[in-house]
Amino acid sequence: MDLQSTYNDKVVRQFAIMTVVWGVVGMLVGVIIAAQLIWPGLSLDLPWLSYGRLRPLHTNAVIFAFGGSALFATAYYVVQRTCHVRLAFDKLAAFTFWGWQAVIVLAAITLPLGITQSKEYAELEWPIDLLIAVVWVSYAVVFLTTIGRRRVKHIYVANWFYAAFIITVAVLHIFNNLSIPVSMWKSYPVYSGVVDAMMQWWYGHNAVGFFLTAGFLGMMYYFVPKQAQRPVYSYRLSVVHFWALIAIYMWAGPHHLHYTSLPNWAQSIGMVFSIILLAPSWGGMINGIMTLSGAWHKLRTDPILKFMIVSLSFYGMSTFEGPMMSIKTVNALSHYTDWTIGHVHSGALGWVAMMTIGALYCLIPRLFNKESMHSTKLIDVHFWTSTIGVVLYAVSMWISGITQGLMWRALNDDGTLTYSFIETVKFNYPYYGLRLLGGVIFLSGMLIMVYNVWMTIRQVKPQAVAVIQPA
Ligand code: HEM
Ligand code: HEM
Repeated sequence: MDLQSTYNDKVVRQFAIMTVVWGVVGMLVGVIIAAQLIWPGLSLDLPWLSYGRLRPLHTNAVIFAFGGSALFATAYYVVQRTCHVRLAFDKLAAFTFWGWQAVIVLAAITLPLGITQSKEYAELEWPIDLLIAVVWVSYAVVFLTTIGRRRVKHIYVANWFYAAFIITVAVLHIFNNLSIPVSMWKSYPVYSGVVDAMMQWWYGHNAVGFFLTAGFLGMMYYFVPKQAQRPVYSYRLSVVHFWALIAIYMWAGPHHLHYTSLPNWAQSIGMVFSIILLAPSWGGMINGIMTLSGAWHKLRTDPILKFMIVSLSFYGMSTFEGPMMSIKTVNALSHYTDWTIGHVHSGALGWVAMMTIGALYCLIPRLFNKESMHSTKLIDVHFWTSTIGVVLYAVSMWISGITQGLMWRALNDDGTLTYSFIETVKFNYPYYGLRLLGGVIFLSGMLIMVYNVWMTIRQVKPQAVAVIQPA
């Protein structure tokens, strides 16, 4: 079989390049809103530059444009290599690329204009939601048909994670966005009151669980063994971890609605399932890290592996922190504070972005028929900027968040509040400065990546590479 011509790597290359582009754009908007929290005047009194509109632009750009493109690219690459077969339906695969980019551009136009459903991570209005549904179902058809056409009996574990992510996100997106349009750019959800809140956080939490976790675990299960040139530490653990993770994640959503009008029993179920979730999460983290057994020395010379191992460490940290924050008494302190923001970014920058960056550095030379990236030294510099950036971000938000929570609840002997709200805001300022610095450093690493990728891919005639991953 001539594998050179059997793989469809064009769509993988397109998504891989756009991952880098959207990473820079999304993080730049992150840096802008981090600066606005220090200098609110930066919005220049223009409604479309206001914090309330740019914040969802940031979250949509980093999660769906950056993270989404990375997941499309790697899922399409991995499924072909592990199933030994060309991606199904070239035209449909091309449609998923152009359709997804259209969704991103529409988001970048409508969100600053203030067009929104006001549901976090599901802000986009109904015409865009319909396009997302069509693109996503096409993605599922391409991916699952490719698995159906595989030439090897076994379905490698990374594909299980990707498949779970693709199917679950389709279900979440469609059900959370059921709404009645009243005009071209306005709709109202079919759910009301607390049912709407429950649906939203069933969606929101599983967006974290499947978009930001299961899909990236698929990435981890292919690229960590590939880069370390070692088999997965325990294949049995990967299968147990898969079923446990997808069974438990679904029930943890109510931890976003503690102390609300959601019935107390539902909040308690969310809390209990969140605590249990620690076990499969750490199963995955341990399996990834232990894959380096016998190859630890490679960390000295391979900055791509460093990205992956630090990413797994942040995965472990944020999946320890999350279950702790889901305990109602802890959540009474953490909710509404910057602690949540610190947790989010130790997961998003530490786990998601660092795994993506590592996988891209592994993938890009292969996609463009090169031995390696233009400069390993620059990958190392990028690694250090990312690590310093995320540590500054997370640590500053932990300090400011926990202190904020403690100041809000501090009482004098006579029962009055010890601090006024503005005093807590004043306390936060230096930490917002540190967070901004962390963000700028992380973003500067992304710019180094742009240069390195550009130098790697210029003057290369792309052609498919016949590398088969042993399943
Ligand atoms: C240079 C890097 C980044 C910077 C400077 C940055 C900055 C920010 C800021 C200032 C906020 C608003 C915080 C608040 O409202 O108090 C935010 C929210 C958020 N960011 Fe980022 N961010 C960055 C990268 C990322 C990445 C890569 C992801 C995801 C993959 C991400 C996901 C999120 C999410 C989900 C929220 C909303 C959190 C919540 O509502 O609790 N960010 N970011
Ligand atoms: C065992 C795993 C995890 C559990 C149990 C968990 C639990 C939690 C809890 C309790 C909150 C605070 C809810 C609130 O007070 O409103 C939260 C917020 C959040 N977590 Fe996690 N977390 C986990 C892992 C992760 C990971 C790995 C990521 C990112 C990749 C992540 C992203 C987020 C985001 C984006 C939010 C903010 C949601 C919002 O209010 O907008 N979590 N998580």
